[in-house]
Amino acid sequence: MEPLRHTTLEERERYLEQAGYNLFLIESRRILIDLLTDSGTSAMSTEQWAALMRGDESYAGSPSFFRLKRVVDDLTGFRHMVPAHQGRAAERILFAVMCKPGHVVPSNTHFDTTRANIESTGARAVDLPIPEAADTQARLDFKGNMDVAALESLIRETGAPNIPLAMLTVTNNSGGGQPVSMANIEAVKRVCSRHGIPLYLDACRFAENAWFIRTCEAGYAEWSPKQIAQKMFSLADGCTFSAKKDAFANIGGLLCSNDDRVFQQETNLLILTEGFPTYGGLAGRDLEAIAVGLEEILDPDYLRYRIASTGYLGRHIADHGVPIVEPPGGHAIYIDAARMLPHIPRQQFPGQALAVELYRHAGIRSVEIGTLMFGDAARHELLRLAIPRRVYTQSHIDYVVEAILEVNAHKDRLRGLEIVEAPPVLRHFSARFREL
Ligand code: F0G
Repeated sequence: MEPLRHTTLEERERYLEQAGYNLFLIESRRILIDLLTDSGTSAMSTEQWAALMRGDESYAGSPSFFRLKRVVDDLTGFRHMVPAHQGRAAERILFAVMCKPGHVVPSNTHFDTTRANIESTGARAVDLPIPEAADTQARLDFKGNMDVAALESLIRETGAPNIPLAMLTVTNNSGGGQPVSMANIEAVKRVCSRHGIPLYLDACRFAENAWFIRTCEAGYAEWSPKQIAQKMFSLADGCTFSAKKDAFANIGGLLCSNDDRVFQQETNLLILTEGFPTYGGLAGRDLEAIAVGLEEILDPDYLRYRIASTGYLGRHIADHGVPIVEPPGGHAIYIDAARMLPHIPRQQFPGQALAVELYRHAGIRSVEIGTLMFGDAARHELLRLAIPRRVYTQSHIDYVVEAILEVNAHKDRLRGLEIVEAPPVLRHFSARFREL
């Protein structure tokens, strides 16, 4: 349980100024409702807290590792698994082993850390979302899919030997939290297999994706979320996973692979930077919490509630005139800031302007996913409202709805921002701004 942290408008003005209008730089005790991310911010269950107490902190061969391994083996079927301290550590190791300059790594849409980790090896990260995803208002069940024809042309142009792996992000976070259909995973897998390219899932939100398949894709209504997830993993050759999302854990990640040779190299790198392969940068108790979370996340009652509550926020703002990425995704609602604030050009970061105003007006923290985060690779100017799992009640969300509608009513008064200082990579985390 956490206290509600009320602040006054004057205080929030001061905090914004001190933080250079970057919400990452505001102390969380100054935030009332924190929708910055659903990552590591979920509430652990009583069973997870109980499991923490069982954590065995042996350096090598901890029973906590083998408990986690049993759960992961059963769920994914991959031959190899190592823990890592979070998703991006798994990404760094995977790409360091598989990529080199000149390589190209396609995805439906890469997340920011994924893109940055690929590019730091000298390889190129390419997003191939379906064309319909360009229209935020189009209502498709599986708007997170990859454009399979575009994948085939990319392979033709680049040559399969220059594509060390392809990825599918499920659900498609940067693309609006939209799911990927089983048919699309199968189609991408077929193309990859034909060219000898391994397919990896960025499986952060695999359970939410499985729920969309169950409810929206023909033939899966009678399947359990676990059976669907097992089939999704069976189509891939490996995965990266952040346990901070669909494992309800506060920290942790996994790297899985079916390739013995690649995995050996990955393990060597893991030992160098993360830790021994049976703990991979985590405490034994973290491994226990992840093992329990991976089972709880597949509970149909939980998933039904989760997806319905995200839709509740989305419908209530969209039906009152706020343009969101349609239809509502799994873990977050994304406001189309370019459409909402047409008077702010993309070079002045409309998504960030909206994030600043939502904090100023109501103490709510959200995050820009657009030109600030991705530079020229950005396809949209979005404001993401990510919903931590098992944390907020409907009345908290009603407050968010009211605040957004109030900001929408005075949107013409919002101003753009200019960067005052920024680091060369992943600038959104620490850049400072001036209001124009
Ligand atoms: N892949 C996806 C699709 C993600 O959403 C994230 C993290 C990562 C990889 C990296 O995982 O944080 O454990 O290193 N997303 C968070 C977010 C940070 O707010 O969406 P990590």
